[in-house]
Amino acid sequence: MVSGKGRRLLVTGGAGFIGANFVHHVLRTRPNDHVVVFDKLTYAGNLANLADVSDDPRYAFVHADICDAGAVERVLSAHGIDTVVNFAAETHVDRSIDDPEAFIRTDVNGTYTLLEAARAKGLRYHQVSTDEVYGHVAEGASRETDPVAPRSPYAASKASGDLLVHAYHVTYGLHTTISRGSNNVGPYQYPEKAVPLFSTNALEGLPLPVYGDGRQERDYQWVGDHCEAIDLIVDRGPAGEAYNVGTGTSIQNLTMVDIVLETLDRPRSLVRHVTDRPGHDRRYAIDTAKLQALGWRSRHTPEQAVAMAAAWYRDNEAWWRPIKSGEFRAYYDRMYGGRAVLPAGG
Ligand code: NAD
Ligand code: TYD
Repeated sequence: MVSGKGRRLLVTGGAGFIGANFVHHVLRTRPNDHVVVFDKLTYAGNLANLADVSDDPRYAFVHADICDAGAVERVLSAHGIDTVVNFAAETHVDRSIDDPEAFIRTDVNGTYTLLEAARAKGLRYHQVSTDEVYGHVAEGASRETDPVAPRSPYAASKASGDLLVHAYHVTYGLHTTISRGSNNVGPYQYPEKAVPLFSTNALEGLPLPVYGDGRQERDYQWVGDHCEAIDLIVDRGPAGEAYNVGTGTSIQNLTMVDIVLETLDRPRSLVRHVTDRPGHDRRYAIDTAKLQALGWRSRHTPEQAVAMAAAWYRDNEAWWRPIKSGEFRAYYDRMYGGRAVLPAGG
């Protein structure tokens, strides 16, 4: 445990959704920790997510790419980093179907670059991964000992990262841990993902594009719960271990949509069933017993998490309005323009 004297964390991808929430969590709850955010600022990276910590003397920001070995080495040395927490990734399944290249580059090669740097300096390394590496789960719940069986280019790139991380532990003795989180919801999530897309579309009076019949199942968890789990695993997780992180309950997308509409007091007539995502994983479900044994409990149900997230978008229009009028608009036309509208019920 390095928390007693305070950790010096490199948080890659810290200007994105979960990374920024993690930075807030650490600076709020760990007075002795220092945090350096290392982020390429892709379309998903946004310094507005970190505006309220920018004056904190325990925080620094470096604009760079995790695939750039020289930049990684320089930041590790300059800031005396002892722990790398890797959030940096291309993260949206639909974009990975459209063009997988950036996913292989960042999620696989970028992970490799960080692992090499951590190995050279003997640092702790935590990989933020996803339950999507297990692929579609017809029944029951995935455990950490289950084989990975990814089915989208995104999930495959994340599973590849996990395999490299594990290999670096086994082969080189690197102190690695992995967290496999379910779908996160909450502040600062780019509105390409379902919950912020549906919330902001509803607020704008636009249709909510539900893929297929909408009966796919996801374990929607509150991002703050996930950040607490990552912090605990980084601090206390034994080397070489992976942990599932989620509520342990999955709900249908149609239920999620109803909660969004109810929270925002918008009509169900906004729902449009549209052409499904190719290879769409019907169900994710994870068993979180291993992390509970480490002392963590999810504090919110999926229903609470979705309602809290929708309310955040209602109350923080100034955050999402500029995003939806920028790069996002071309993306939305490309991704949704050609989708057929299906009869109600998909
Ligand atoms: P995000 O898309 O909101 O943010 C990704 C961040 O990484 C951005 O700030 C971006 O600028 C940065 N980035 C991308 N490529 C980079 C590169 N080459 N070098 C440096 N920075 C780069 O992502 P998120 O939703 O916050 O996800 C964070 C991590 O959590 C990812 O590894 C993702 O796979 C994992 N995860 C996400 C979810 C979810 O529901 N969003 C669930 C489980 C796990
Ligand atoms: P998403 O937020 O993209 O997360 P993931 O695919 O990584 O789980 O999507 C969550 C669920 O919502 C998933 O089943 C796909 C579905 N979805 C829609 O029905 N319509 C949409 O426009 C989007 C983006 C997602």
